[in-house]
Order: sequence, then C-alpha cells, then structure tokens
Amino acid sequence: MSSGSPRPTSGKTAESVHGSDAHPGAGSRSAHTVVESRGSPPAVEVRDLDKFYFMPGQRLEVLKGLNLTVGPGELVAVVGQSGSGKSTLLHILGALDRPTSGSVRFGGDDLQGLDAEGLAQFRRSSVGFVFQFHNLLPEFSALENVSMPQRIAGAYRDERTGREMLALVGLEARMHHRPGELSGGEQQRVAIARALVNQPRLVLADEPTGNLDSRTGTRVFELFREIQRDKKHTSIVVTHNARIATKCDRILKLENGSLEAVSGTHV
Ligand SMILES: Nc1ncnc2c1ncn2[C@@H]1O[C@H](COP(=O)(O)OP(=O)(O)O)[C@@H](O)[C@H]1O
Ligand SMILES: [Mg+2]
Repeated sequence: MSSGSPRPTSGKTAESVHGSDAHPGAGSRSAHTVVESRGSPPAVEVRDLDKFYFMPGQRLEVLKGLNLTVGPGELVAVVGQSGSGKSTLLHILGALDRPTSGSVRFGGDDLQGLDAEGLAQFRRSSVGFVFQFHNLLPEFSALENVSMPQRIAGAYRDERTGREMLALVGLEARMHHRPGELSGGEQQRVAIARALVNQPRLVLADEPTGNLDSRTGTRVFELFREIQRDKKHTSIVVTHNARIATKCDRILKLENGSLEAVSGTHV
C-alpha cells in the first residue's frame, strides 16, 4: 500500500455502467483559467506517450502519441469512453506504472530517469490519489487513515496535520470513526483529506464521485474544487459527470489513445 492507493496491476477497477460516459458540450463553458507558466516549466508535461499492453498474440495500444501540458494550480478534467485508457494514463502520471515510451515531466523533473525506488519516493511525497472507491483501511479511524501517507513518506510528526485536513473537509467531529461508521460522501471526503495531507505536487482523482449519488457527488466535488483552488493543487480528475467536468478549468477527451480539447484551447 502506498499513499492509500491500490495496486494497479489488475488494471481494472469496477467500472461504472458501460456506455454511460457523458460528454460535455464544447460550448458549455466560456470562462476558463488556464495557468500559463512563463519561463518556469509547466507542472506536468507529457510528450509522445505510448502505453501498450502485450497480450498473447496481440498488442493492445491503449495510449498512442499522447501529449498533455498542465499548468501550476490548474484543474483539468479528463473524459472518455469506458476502456479508453483514462485510468492507465492516471497510473502513469502517478508513477504507479511506466509508459512503453515517451516522457513524463513534473516541473522539469523527468520520471523516466528514476528507478523503482525513485518512482516510489516520488509517488509517496508528490502525488495524492483519490479513487472511485475510497480504499480507506477499515480497521483504522478517519484520522489514522488521513495520517497514513505521512507515515509512509516518513513525514509523520503528530496528528495535527491530519486533524487540520479533516477539518478542511468538515469532518473533524468524525475523526475517530472508522470508515464503516461514515456515510459514502463522508468516506470520500476522508479520501480527499488523505490525498492532500502531504501537500502533493499533483492530485489525481479517478472518478472520485462515481460511487456516490449525483447530489452527494456534486457536493463532494465542490468541496474538493474549493480546497484545490485555495491550495492551488495541480490536479487531474477523470469523470463521467458532465456537471463536474464543466467546473474544471479545462476539459480534455481521451479518444483513440490521445487527448483532444473539448473546452479550452490546448491539450
Ligand atoms: N494490466 C493490463 N493488461 C492488459 N490490458 C489492460 C490492463 N489494464 C488495462 N487494460 C486495458 O486497457 C484499456 C484501457 O483501460 P483503462 O485505462 O482502465 O480504461 P478507462 O479507465 O478509460 O475505463 C482497456 O481496454 C483495458 O482492458
Ligand atoms: Mg478507469
């Protein structure tokens, strides 16, 4: 277990209903706040990324020549059909998996140059994950779950930061509850607090509200958005929810192995 994240090896998490992917219209949003960095490198820069899976007798080309640039503090939505490679992309960006070829840079640092321990170190200290299913550890309290990435990164001093993070998501009064003693929305808010506890350089959310009813999902996302804006976390969120996508700075669609702009001017 690292940063509260599951192993990516099986590739698939339970996928929400096939074919339910929503594609927000291109004109659905006019004001967007792309953060263009002048002089300093972008927060995330992906160039010519390929990811192929080699199965007996076939090569599955999931990502092909994919490019992506994300500015510091930007929140980008990624939409796309089930099976288009959204989770594969997030796993590569989060150093849970390696690309077949291509480069992934964070503020100018190239992930390709890192060995397995370097990647693990990067993941522990620089990435926060939020998944569709909260993946909280059932035997531990909300506070212990939130503090877990600090312990894994060797950054745990005391419970103060964990408490602050739970206060940020409105759950300080639930800090001693175990996941089974929290509602679905509360569990996902704990998962958000856990993702942010190490002040990551990049927050990756894979259908973070996919397991919640739409009202709860919208509320949880609005809270995430507020904190993300305030703390200026560079973030990428995969979502099937059109309302959530339109609240992001930019919407990109993953299709045929690469990204195209749905709203905003660039990928
Ligand atoms: N470890 C793996 N080995 C082989 N194929 C995989 C693996 N992980 C994912 N895939 C395949 O890659 C494609 C993209 O998967 P995924 O990234 O999970 O899509 P999405 O998140 O967009 O639904 C799918 O066809 C899936 O079956
Ligand atoms: Mg997925």
